[in-house]
Amino acid sequence: MTLIHEEQLKNFIDGKWVEPSSGKATAVINPATSETLVNVPLSAASDVEEATSAAKKAQKTWALVPAPQRAEVLYRVGLIMKERKERLSQLLTMENGKVIEEARGEVQEGIDMAFYMAGEGRRLFGQTTPSELKDKFAMSVRAPVGVVGIITPWNFPIAIATWKSFPAIVAGNAVVWKPATETPIMAYELAKIFEEAGLPKGVINVVFGSGSTVGEAMIEQQDIRVISFTGSNEVGRGIAGKCGQRLKKVSLEMGGKNGVIVMDDADLSLAVEGILWSAYGTSGQRCTACSRVMVHEKVKDELEERLQKEIAKLSIGNGLDESIKVGPIINSKGLEKVKSYISIGKEEGAKLLTGGYIMENGDHKKGNYFAPTLFTDVKPDMRIAQEEIFGPVVSLIPVKSFEEAVEINNSVEFGLSSSIFTQNVNQVFAAQRDLDTGIVYVNAGTTGAEIHLPFGGTKGTGNGHRDSGVAALDVFTEWKAVYVDFSGKLQRAQIDVE
Ligand code: UN1
Repeated sequence: MTLIHEEQLKNFIDGKWVEPSSGKATAVINPATSETLVNVPLSAASDVEEATSAAKKAQKTWALVPAPQRAEVLYRVGLIMKERKERLSQLLTMENGKVIEEARGEVQEGIDMAFYMAGEGRRLFGQTTPSELKDKFAMSVRAPVGVVGIITPWNFPIAIATWKSFPAIVAGNAVVWKPATETPIMAYELAKIFEEAGLPKGVINVVFGSGSTVGEAMIEQQDIRVISFTGSNEVGRGIAGKCGQRLKKVSLEMGGKNGVIVMDDADLSLAVEGILWSAYGTSGQRCTACSRVMVHEKVKDELEERLQKEIAKLSIGNGLDESIKVGPIINSKGLEKVKSYISIGKEEGAKLLTGGYIMENGDHKKGNYFAPTLFTDVKPDMRIAQEEIFGPVVSLIPVKSFEEAVEINNSVEFGLSSSIFTQNVNQVFAAQRDLDTGIVYVNAGTTGAEIHLPFGGTKGTGNGHRDSGVAALDVFTEWKAVYVDFSGKLQRAQIDVE
């Protein structure tokens, strides 16, 4: 089956597939095999300008379409995605490297989002409230912001795109979207699905290219009123600064240094399963990946032993093969970054229990494979316990108490996800209160967010906004307060109140 029909992708602007005005392109590489899959445009600022004016024009009409009708388009998008789930999943594995089972999960996350946000078309609730004056009606309604810019990462190229574009569209906005250049195929497929589902031209526009050109141009465009970004902390800070100067709303979803706490009364088999899944799934390239385990000293030796035994069983390779559990790292730059943290960890005095190397034998030589890695005797202030590695590297940090574990968990710059394994109900409730992260799991790993709950984090992970869930609507709408006076006379608030 040939999954890719194009040699060179095109931008999608105003309902048309167009070449970038720059004439430039770069190759998209399958990280499992190093084969070129397709070429992706490296667009110019003028392409963003064109996309923005198309979006501006389309948005005016789109905003007047009743929300339940806007939602019907999303419903059709969900149905087409469902029908194409297997094809999309295989393409996702090819461009991103994640194993096919996880790719299916990610596509499902997008399908779920389509139906969830389609339902929002019949809600988009505002509030009515009594006025302080007689014969006066007061309400707050959600108004679209206009044109929104979304910038999506390569690690969840379809799920995160749906988290952002679906709420934006159902709320009556038009979108200019810059997908990651490493994973443009999901964007191309999703744009095609929108087209087939009957989304009017110009409501979604896809401009492929680099952050430094396309992303910057999106920030510059005055008509783009919101930027919603998921990606690295460094890039996010830059975007926030520039948007701040321009009084542009910006929603950031960035790094994590997510911790699992394993208490002495934990079900250790379950903890091992949870750690393996959230640490080595997606080769550790999730914002929510577990990269620290605060383990009670009483169960430390046993947990180390069990984890090593299970890590040895993980099959690593091309994720299209159903038996493979861990795929490659996205590119050689990512691979080198992960490798650099191994020497950092060793120099800091951490003990390497397993892994710690680039896999270069046999078929592994063809792709970017890193052996699942486990460090122990890690101190909370070591760099491997503080910085986001974005790879399959876990640090075990021994602790003496629940309080110490919570304190260490909270001692990092990030605050996305955390988890605790314990049977103690008091500790469960104390943990959900005291763990300073946007997501807390009890007796599960740090990954597995569901689309109808808010997704995001505290501190350096973001800037107070949330993706997915009803909270996503706050990013893409403005609250409008509406007062209707039907008294027939001038009534002054605060003054004519008797
Ligand atoms: C991300 O890594 O940015 O909970 C998103 C999870 C997934 C989403 C991760 N459902 O890990």
